[in-house]
Amino acid sequence: MSVQQVAILLNETIGTISPYLHGEFAEHLGECIYPGIWVGEGSTIPNINGIRQDVVEALRPLEIPVLRWPGGCFADAYHWRDGIGARSQRPLRVNYHWGKAPESNHFGTHEFIEFCRLIGTEPYLVGNVGSGTPSELRDWVEYCNFAGNSSLANERRANGAPEPFGVRFWGVGNENWGCGGNMDPEYYAAEFARFRTFLFDYSDTPIHAIACGAAGNDWHWTWKFLDTLRRKHWNRMHLVQSLAAHYYCGTAGTATQFTEEQWLELLCRAYVMEGIILGHRTTMDELDPDRRIHLIVDEWGAWHPVEPGKPSSGLYQQNTMRDAHVAAITLDVFHRHCDKVYMGNIAQLINVLQSLLLVEEDRCIKTPTYYVWQLYAPHKGGSAVRFESLAERISDGGVSRDHCKSSYLQRSFNGLQCITGSASVKDRTLCVTMTNNHPSRPCEVRLTLVGAQVKEASMAVLVADDIRAHNTFEQPDRVKPSAPRPIPAAGDTLQVEAPAASVIQVLCSLG
Ligand code: AHR
Repeated sequence: MSVQQVAILLNETIGTISPYLHGEFAEHLGECIYPGIWVGEGSTIPNINGIRQDVVEALRPLEIPVLRWPGGCFADAYHWRDGIGARSQRPLRVNYHWGKAPESNHFGTHEFIEFCRLIGTEPYLVGNVGSGTPSELRDWVEYCNFAGNSSLANERRANGAPEPFGVRFWGVGNENWGCGGNMDPEYYAAEFARFRTFLFDYSDTPIHAIACGAAGNDWHWTWKFLDTLRRKHWNRMHLVQSLAAHYYCGTAGTATQFTEEQWLELLCRAYVMEGIILGHRTTMDELDPDRRIHLIVDEWGAWHPVEPGKPSSGLYQQNTMRDAHVAAITLDVFHRHCDKVYMGNIAQLINVLQSLLLVEEDRCIKTPTYYVWQLYAPHKGGSAVRFESLAERISDGGVSRDHCKSSYLQRSFNGLQCITGSASVKDRTLCVTMTNNHPSRPCEVRLTLVGAQVKEASMAVLVADDIRAHNTFEQPDRVKPSAPRPIPAAGDTLQVEAPAASVIQVLCSLG
């Protein structure tokens, strides 16, 4: 068995891992909201005021830090007033972007906030810039956040919420270069400034405005948007708190049918996230050298062909060990670059794209991606330290997705960059997470700690008998992590057996 050397440099701190990096996204798309979250009070499926109980029970232990809603492309066609008041009176609309599906509006602002409270997450609302107005968005903020006496605040009270919702994160449109209005960056910068002006701080907690960022490696959008704000009349960059890029690593093969080569191709594309972060942050640093504006990635994940038998507009896909690796590689990239990236929101929560849960009628199962969220949780709020796999790096500088097809790069990934990971310290506990990306070769990982000694250590591993393994409603527990078990540790060295295609969590108490 090959031996991979990894050094954990505890004396080289990168920064604090923002818990928001483990965020989620839920859109009115396919089966994510209906019936993924909302079944209604009259449903035979057990529910809490219409919200699925099984989903709440599955998500609450993950302590998801932030949930983005209502879109996605849906957001720039959504009018928030459609989703308040008596449900029987709410208008029936057409969800144009996603198969012209009927939108009952039964899941609106109050239901979303209740769901967030039930699962213990912070809401992130995305406003309608593409087809909405600044006053519509201003009114939504006042409705949600004003504690005083106004018609909108009183309407919220009449609708059952005496206390303000205190929503801090507000998206100013979504993908405004595409489904959010087909704007160019200069035009969007002007629209952003106009809408942002009326995002008033109705409470003591200032609004955190999130501007629409680029698709993938479109550095031009990032540069032009910020540069336009900077140049027009006076510098308006202070209006931006975060800039949100999107990056989907896509697919290779299908969700459940792929070769070892396609496994490597997709993992390599997931790894491209490192280049995306470096590229946007470098661009932003030229205009915002103090990093006052946060970089966030509020949509990311795998995007496979829709599962046979499901409508193409619903983006329903299965989730295998390969998706677990996509999630783990991406979270590890976020942690290693936590000085550059502040929030990440995987797309999406339930039954859409790379989801944590799949539901069908009264059944709910956890995907392999769910278990990555569980294993990686100890990193949240930790202090990231350098994780150095003593092998050649492949993606610093921004490898493009197309390069992942090159057999040279796949060989590099396969042989040299077999182990990727991240490390952080919190309360004298070191958490190391790693992936053995090789589809069929196990290895031994020798972890050397620099700057600390280990007292005791344990590991848990997510691995299956097949790289295509996934959970189904018939076999819900085929893929799940092992229980933690002690591992040999002496002085500054730890030995970890890394099965092929595995995701590993190591926890060590430090001496
Ligand atoms: O997550 C699905 C869609 O992908 C979102 O609605 C859109 O923002 C992106 O293109």
